Amino acid sequence: MITLGINYSQTHDSSACLVRDGDLVFAVAEERISRLKHDARFPQLAIRACLEFAKARAEELDEVCFGWPAPGALFWHDLKCYALRRLVPTRANVLNSTRYYASMWHQQGGARRFEQHFGRTKARVRYVDHHLAHAISAYGYSGFDDAAVVVMDGRGAWEATSIWHGHGGRIEHVLTIPFPDSVGLFYSEFTEYLGFQRNSDEWKVMGLAPYGRPGLNLGAFIDLDVTPYRVHTKSVVSNGVPFAAMIAAFGPRREPESGIEERHKNIAYAVQEACETAMMNVVRLAVEKTGSKNLCLAGGVALNSKANGKIAASGIVDKIFVQPAASDDGVALGAALAPYLDNGGKLPVKAMRHAYLGPAFDDDAIETVLKTYKLRYTRVNDVAAAAAEMLSHGKILGWFQGRMEFGPRALGSRSILADPRDPEMNVKVNNAVKFREWWRPFAPSFKKEAAGEYLESGTDSPFMILTAQVRREKRSVIPAVTHVDGSARPQTVEREINPLYWRLIDEFEKHTGVPVIMNTSFNLRGEAIVHTPTDAIRTFFSSGMDALVIGSFIVEK
Ligand SMILES: [Fe+2]
Repeated sequence: MITLGINYSQTHDSSACLVRDGDLVFAVAEERISRLKHDARFPQLAIRACLEFAKARAEELDEVCFGWPAPGALFWHDLKCYALRRLVPTRANVLNSTRYYASMWHQQGGARRFEQHFGRTKARVRYVDHHLAHAISAYGYSGFDDAAVVVMDGRGAWEATSIWHGHGGRIEHVLTIPFPDSVGLFYSEFTEYLGFQRNSDEWKVMGLAPYGRPGLNLGAFIDLDVTPYRVHTKSVVSNGVPFAAMIAAFGPRREPESGIEERHKNIAYAVQEACETAMMNVVRLAVEKTGSKNLCLAGGVALNSKANGKIAASGIVDKIFVQPAASDDGVALGAALAPYLDNGGKLPVKAMRHAYLGPAFDDDAIETVLKTYKLRYTRVNDVAAAAAEMLSHGKILGWFQGRMEFGPRALGSRSILADPRDPEMNVKVNNAVKFREWWRPFAPSFKKEAAGEYLESGTDSPFMILTAQVRREKRSVIPAVTHVDGSARPQTVEREINPLYWRLIDEFEKHTGVPVIMNTSFNLRGEAIVHTPTDAIRTFFSSGMDALVIGSFIVEK
């Protein structure tokens, strides 16, 4: 059976993946190919890439599965919220809901677009409830037989938070907290109030939080004494005057790109703390309801690596799997497995150990591009050794190897690498390459077997999706990747999973005695991570990187 999973909601992160006989073969987000960050358009480029990689034709597909219910469910939920005054039915709100419904209805939720681009198909078109798709994307790839599954995001059609019980390849619904009682919505609104972009820059709030001080009361916006939480939607959501309640409580909204004041740091601290408490409460409830201490997490809120790290270290759960594509790009992965549940069937539950699911470019393809641009380059026999030596001399490298990662993190395929021992490296990479905010930390890649020497927890963390505390005595060894509060967002690299990247770190250790490198995504600020050799070369020459290690080739400036 060949199933195509699709995320398409016109809001953010359109994506597609292909599953053949229960194996996830390929996955890519539209933004990587179109170069439009968080691209929300129909993912025709991503679907084409799936079919090309799998050498399948559209007419061979058995199932085309969208990670959203058929158009209408979201609209009816909105109307219900207006009727019950859970959302204020302003003219603009009602118009937006109606317009969205009309557009999705016209496109049959994307099915009509699919047919326009790929012709008629015998495939069954299936619309999977959004939180079910998220839940499968976590449980179905966790490798757990029995698990408590928690989904938290901004919103599905009607869902904001949901709990599921995965057992023996089946997944049962336990409870749903309906939108707009949404932790994701709460976090996004504050993200925007703090001058950042919603559904994109929540990382920035999380990174800023440790610079703030405790003490700010968010009781008017979220109640954490109610199990598991209650968002005071009328204060959080803008109705007429944008951010009126926040402005009344904490002063004017921060202008984008303006300076960061103490109060902004304190608000970030309080918002992050509230999110962590709410997530912890939901997880506690999920463990209680399902009786399982294996936890699976998905939904945009599960990208909060700080909260995930706290949950992992809390002792509430024994094992945790966070779907690395926790945001909506990942619902494609869940939707594509949904057909396996038909007629009492079981999900082909397997442990996802890596996210190298995208396209790759071989040396011939790369060399053709290097020649096209008339670049001077050298071919080396051992790129890992050559790159490690350059890193040990303080060089900042672009690293382009193998299949592109799926999900928001670069994990050693499309990465910018640097020496984590240099306390100035953070500033150097920021100034030369990333041009991003001073408070956002960079992450480390560890040889997995060495992670325990440096970290108090999180020693099995292949996806950089949970934070851990760096051991006190090691913080001065890797200052460039240790955040102000002593935390780091580690990637643990296994030799069997990514031998080339593992060996690069190993070679770096031979030079320096430190089995850790700084790893940040290969992109400029505001751009999607590079996809093709051309993207890599353009990014390399638009920044202060010293060398580009691409396939077997090295390009230096
Ligand atoms: Fe979602």
